[in-house]
Amino acid sequence: MTETLSSPQIIKAQDQFESPTMAFARDVLKGLNNTPKRLSSVYFYDERGSQLFEEICELEEYYLTRKETEILQRSAAEIISKLPLNTHLVELGSGSSTKTRILLEAAMARFGTTQYSPIDVSAEILTDTVNDLNHRYPQLQLEAVAGRYEFGMEYILKNSTTSNCIMWLGSSIGNLTRVEATQFLREVRKNISAQDSLLLGIDLRKGPEILEPAYDDARGVTADFNLNLLDRLNNELGGTFERKNFHHQAIYNVEEGRIEMYLVSNIDQEVEIKNIGVSISFKKDEKILTEYSYKYSHNEINALAEASGFFLEQQWLDDKGWFSLNCFKTQNNAPELRAL
Ligand code: AVI
Repeated sequence: MTETLSSPQIIKAQDQFESPTMAFARDVLKGLNNTPKRLSSVYFYDERGSQLFEEICELEEYYLTRKETEILQRSAAEIISKLPLNTHLVELGSGSSTKTRILLEAAMARFGTTQYSPIDVSAEILTDTVNDLNHRYPQLQLEAVAGRYEFGMEYILKNSTTSNCIMWLGSSIGNLTRVEATQFLREVRKNISAQDSLLLGIDLRKGPEILEPAYDDARGVTADFNLNLLDRLNNELGGTFERKNFHHQAIYNVEEGRIEMYLVSNIDQEVEIKNIGVSISFKKDEKILTEYSYKYSHNEINALAEASGFFLEQQWLDDKGWFSLNCFKTQNNAPELRAL
């Protein structure tokens, strides 16, 4: 279902059947009854969580945002020059579109009027972003969609009359497992055609001495971000979690090439979640898995492209080779995609 919000530029794409609170309750119930317990990282991003994530992006230890910005500043004009004239820029998880502005400015310098469609789950953030972009860049043709990426992308691409570049920055793909990432990109592939492309920010594999502090910073902002999930459970579902009874942990699993974030119980305890009528017991040191953040090798990036019906046309790296920006193009005669 789609409905127009306050401004004609923002479309709200909603799940017809389930309210956000119901979906949260369902996922929490399933995740906390799982062994090992888990909560999905998509629930980090309430208002407080989104603010904390913005703070994380400014941290010395969290190099990802800085490195991606460095690449964009150095290569935005080149990236845009690879796209057909007047390519429509479609961004997944745009947030405040901070880094994207570097690309938008390069696109406006080349195309003049530029079509930009940010898609984000948060209608509030989109409203602020669209108002700000409108004000700053009159040459931008904006059409934003609030909702899940799949809905947003389908809506935007169905109505698009030019070539499209789907941008997914910040290594958000890393929060999917490798199989989920391939499945998601296959869905994208189904929605686009030969002249379209995909611009993907992907964090690269590196040593735990760099990765672990990036997810467990000295000021404790990431710990706060992780523990905020417990506040959400209390505020939205009537939970009785006490922050002091849990601590944040981030471990780099070298073999899997992923950061694993946990909330670890400090004591044996029983916690109620009143609105869903359950009581959950925790042993001391028992963990709730809250996030995976996968890192990729160059081979893994090529394999991801290949398995999802793309090929890696060009890659840009920062000075240290820590982060990558990747332009995927559709494979010409993509063989029948293998089952995963
Ligand atoms: C949004 N995502 C790419 C971040 C990451 O690096 O995996 C989320 C995050 N979690 C802890 N710090 C940042």
